Amino acid sequence: MDQLDEVLTCRLDLGRKVVEPCSIVIFGASGDLTSRKLIPALYHLFIEKRLPSPFRIIGFARREKSNESWREELKAALQQFSRSKKVDEAAWSEFAANLSYCQGDLTDPAAYARLTSLLEGFNEPQLRRNLLFYLSISPSQFAQVAEQLHGAKLMTRHQTPGAWQRLVVEKPFGHDLASAQALNAELTRFAQERQIYRIDHYLGKETVQNILMFRFSNSIFEQLWNRQSVDHVQITVSEKLGVGARAGYYEEAGALRDMLQNHLLQVLALVAMEPPVSLEAESVRDEKVKLLNAVRRMQPTQVSSHVVRGQYTAGSIAGQPCPAYRQEPKVNPSSNTETFVAMRLLIDNWRWAGVPFYLRTGKYLPLSASEVRVQFRPTPNVLFAAQCGPKLDANAITLRLQPNEGITLRFNGKIPGNSIQIRPVRMHFSYDAEFGAYTPEAYERLLLEAIGGDATLFIRRDEVEAAWGIVDPIAASWAETPLTPQEFYPAGTWGPERAAELLTREGRAWRDPQPQS
Ligand code: BG6
Repeated sequence: MDQLDEVLTCRLDLGRKVVEPCSIVIFGASGDLTSRKLIPALYHLFIEKRLPSPFRIIGFARREKSNESWREELKAALQQFSRSKKVDEAAWSEFAANLSYCQGDLTDPAAYARLTSLLEGFNEPQLRRNLLFYLSISPSQFAQVAEQLHGAKLMTRHQTPGAWQRLVVEKPFGHDLASAQALNAELTRFAQERQIYRIDHYLGKETVQNILMFRFSNSIFEQLWNRQSVDHVQITVSEKLGVGARAGYYEEAGALRDMLQNHLLQVLALVAMEPPVSLEAESVRDEKVKLLNAVRRMQPTQVSSHVVRGQYTAGSIAGQPCPAYRQEPKVNPSSNTETFVAMRLLIDNWRWAGVPFYLRTGKYLPLSASEVRVQFRPTPNVLFAAQCGPKLDANAITLRLQPNEGITLRFNGKIPGNSIQIRPVRMHFSYDAEFGAYTPEAYERLLLEAIGGDATLFIRRDEVEAAWGIVDPIAASWAETPLTPQEFYPAGTWGPERAAELLTREGRAWRDPQPQS
């Protein structure tokens, strides 16, 4: 960074509300998410002095544990999952002194009485009044916990000045529109919508947040961001891992509910929405909802021509054998759950009318990468285009969301020399090269925002419902029909062949993410 870059750096969070002392209660404290993500994130916020002072963290779960044994478990997990590998003993001890464990059943009022007395034991009044409840539990238990918290007077719908209570809920938020609406109705009996923070961890990723900066802090790109210039958009979120040990959950979810309904549609909303009138949470979320509502809904009879599902069969990735999905532990051997989905969707608004958006995601694909590729229209069929035909590559901007985070512009250039040859060249911005290897976990940002009371990076009620409205007809159509042989793909490939046909029939092709973008 040169001196001018320093001078021109806008520090937008100067003057932001200071985070207030609070207690964070994690329901599901024995679970994987707590040890792998939440505690490491809170620990890093602590060592970076971003947590309020004072703060307390209470783990609530059914298993018998002492404060000490819970802390020991968390420390072991931190050593394994911390992004700064070496855990500083002194910092950990200081952090761990704020952790306590509350044993109890989620349905048992006596457990909430114990939680209340634990909180009442804190001297600092704000630790008793400012409460962040993190529900890292099965969604079927969300409403129950909210009701119990309400019954124990730990959470009220009527916020009094100088006190707040917030509920952070993990996905999946419902399994279709009706269940999401029912869950929303239940939760809002005990908390106001503005107290509910629905997590989509993609929104905590630096590169996903940067979509807003990229689009609305530059004038050159936004001028092109419309149907006049853009031919189509591809959003790929590929994973080279299989379902692993999560089959119990995944069998019910599938790629459509696990990834597309939330992460891919959130990325789509940020890429395609109109500029918000301000950076306030409600303005940003209003625009995302407008965009999701403009996505053309499919009739169940249209699904098969716009959406392709797939399930992996045995194959290999980087020489490692991968089992078929149906052979994974806890998977029904005749399961119809999709591990891959690709879809073509249209957005019926002024900006995007007629521009196809192709989305795809899947497990056991050749590599793990998330990308948004905005492909511009081809040049008119004269001059070079007339001579090169389709070989003349159209311009494209690729937002590489992970890994090797960056942004690439592809355009054509003359190969130096006496012959006349044209080929695509790249202008590349790499986060690592520009800013150094700094990859904070999405959960750090999201926890900090929830503690600070900023809901911009969380999903609002109407947003989650709009996303289900897009996905429901697809799920309904698939529920009726078992997988056909064409819907399987060997692990380590880019999904069933029909996924390619979604584009090839329109004279387009997927651009697969490359290991080094
Ligand atoms: C989760 C899904 O929400 O996102 C997982 O439940 C998926 O199935 C994960 O693997 C992907 O997240 P990331 O951050 O690794 O891209």
